[in-house]
Amino acid sequence: MNGVNRNVDAIGVFDSGVGGLSVLRALLTELPHERFVYLADQGHAPYGEREDSHIIQRASAITRYLTAQHRVKAMVVACNTATAAAIHLMREAHPEIPIVGIEPALKPAVALSTTHRIGVMATRGTLQSEKFRSLLEGLSAQAVFVLQPCDGLADAIERDDAIQIGAICAQSTSVMGTFDSQPDQIDTLVLGCTHYPFASDILRSLVGDAVHLLEGGAPVARQTRRVLEQRGWLAPAPVAHTAPPPPLVIGSTGRTDALQSAAKRWLGLDCTVASWDV
Ligand code: DGL
Repeated sequence: MNGVNRNVDAIGVFDSGVGGLSVLRALLTELPHERFVYLADQGHAPYGEREDSHIIQRASAITRYLTAQHRVKAMVVACNTATAAAIHLMREAHPEIPIVGIEPALKPAVALSTTHRIGVMATRGTLQSEKFRSLLEGLSAQAVFVLQPCDGLADAIERDDAIQIGAICAQSTSVMGTFDSQPDQIDTLVLGCTHYPFASDILRSLVGDAVHLLEGGAPVARQTRRVLEQRGWLAPAPVAHTAPPPPLVIGSTGRTDALQSAAKRWLGLDCTVASWDV
């Protein structure tokens, strides 16, 4: 890529489905002049309870597709499960572009918690991964972590099934212990799957106002800015203040209607979702 101006190229973002929109929301705020291409792999989701081999194969096909068909200058893996299973292989296969991943926000949780008791909700795949284990090991002297795999929660959020979302959140939080800011209570809850911020209203009603709910979109967006800045690949601000925002391209390998209504509901985006065969 030497000598090629990459500033105008897009940033590729992917997740198994609608969850990565929580990261895209932070990216659009942090990097308003960038063009984004968002891929929801709904035809092959959910990832959270699948074999690593499935996720590795999907991450590799998606990276090839986005780099070849959409000229992306960077990739954001807006999925904790895919980051844990596949980001090292994606980086090996595509050294020409920076690839930014997401991990459950344990470090910020340690900094915030005063009871030193931290809940972590994530997919089974994330919690069982090597990457997560080593993150946890490095912090286990500083807090007690209560880990909760939430089978079916990402899928219920995909289907916008409020009853199922409520039932899984209630069951998950009740087995984790009591939440509040007294000693021995969980005062910080890490949302370790990018789908879960879209259940934060119900989680908030279950754990109470004193508990910190932590998601990872904003740190990922800041890291994306840093890696582009280092390479001199940030998109320039438009000269005219009235210039329209850069176009956003959104596609799904599955049903496009669910993604389209989620983008409208959560990000206020009126966009047409493309159907991509990846
Ligand atoms: N949103 C994804 C994550 O952050 C995965 C959800 C799923 O497909 O199970 O882990």
